Amino acid sequence: MALPRVLVTRRLPDAVEQHIGAHFDATFNPDDTPLRRDQLAQAMRDYDALCPTITDRLGADILGTPDARVRIIANFGAGVDHVDLAAARAAGITVTNTPDVLTDATAELAITLMLMAARRAGEGERVLRAGAWGGWGPTDLIGQSIVGKTLGLVGFGRIAQTTAERARAGFGMKIAYYSRRRAPEGIEARLGARYVPSLAALAAEADILSLHTPGGDDTRHLVDAALLARMKPSAILVNTARGTVVDEAALAEALAARRIAAAGLDVYEKEPQVHPALLALENAVLLPHLGSATIETRVAMGMRAAANLEAWFNEEEPRDRVV
Ligand code: 8YV
Repeated sequence: MALPRVLVTRRLPDAVEQHIGAHFDATFNPDDTPLRRDQLAQAMRDYDALCPTITDRLGADILGTPDARVRIIANFGAGVDHVDLAAARAAGITVTNTPDVLTDATAELAITLMLMAARRAGEGERVLRAGAWGGWGPTDLIGQSIVGKTLGLVGFGRIAQTTAERARAGFGMKIAYYSRRRAPEGIEARLGARYVPSLAALAAEADILSLHTPGGDDTRHLVDAALLARMKPSAILVNTARGTVVDEAALAEALAARRIAAAGLDVYEKEPQVHPALLALENAVLLPHLGSATIETRVAMGMRAAANLEAWFNEEEPRDRVV
């Protein structure tokens, strides 16, 4: 029997491409150029499965392509806000993702951003590279410590919980969280985490507010001008979740006016564009969506997407079905 035709839309680590190439009639993207809409629509007609990433916007227009052949979308990534899930459901297309395997890497990056923002690391490096460092000074580039501070987590899924664990073990941080659903008592006890029933109250007490919700319409601009106004002037906002959770223009204003001290961002409202006002701010640490970018994690994500495809084509239930 002919192997299923699979399109992998972006370049993946060699080990993953070799694995997928050995199990499927696979097409790869050695140039790594994101596909245009017309190419995605054509792919819907030409392949049995897609393995896309966040750079592929799979809206109702693409998923509803007439005469589509694609039956499964095995997303390379945990977040699926770039896929119109209702349209996939309506078209009878299975969607899977890659949870768990990027938890450690993303939590690690949230901690990286906390430290960089608190210790003014990006700003310091820019001074040095610009040749503007005049030597050590007792009051130069003074930041703040994160040790013993209150970490407010917005959303309390796997990545938030792992961030809490690291922040507590490494820096003695106090953990508070807001989430639509309260976590089981055992998890709260293990992490020393205190539930705060309102986001506004959490924002007001957090020294660092770290975002860990999914993207999409339900969380759009959860952090807006009003919420930023609740935060302490010394507070830091960290976002490793989705850019759409934050009103970037409002954040830039709050940072410029020093209504909050700093922000550490890995994700943006309109990637790869970054709000120009943010680019001009010294107190914004801006990383290019590096959350899962470790070799260990990217290989594990690819293998997990491959395992979902293999299960589906073997007529087994894929482990990570979203739709
Ligand atoms: C991925 C991410 O690299 O998995 C996610 O949800 O945000 C990233 O870490 C990206 O989405 C790949 O598609």
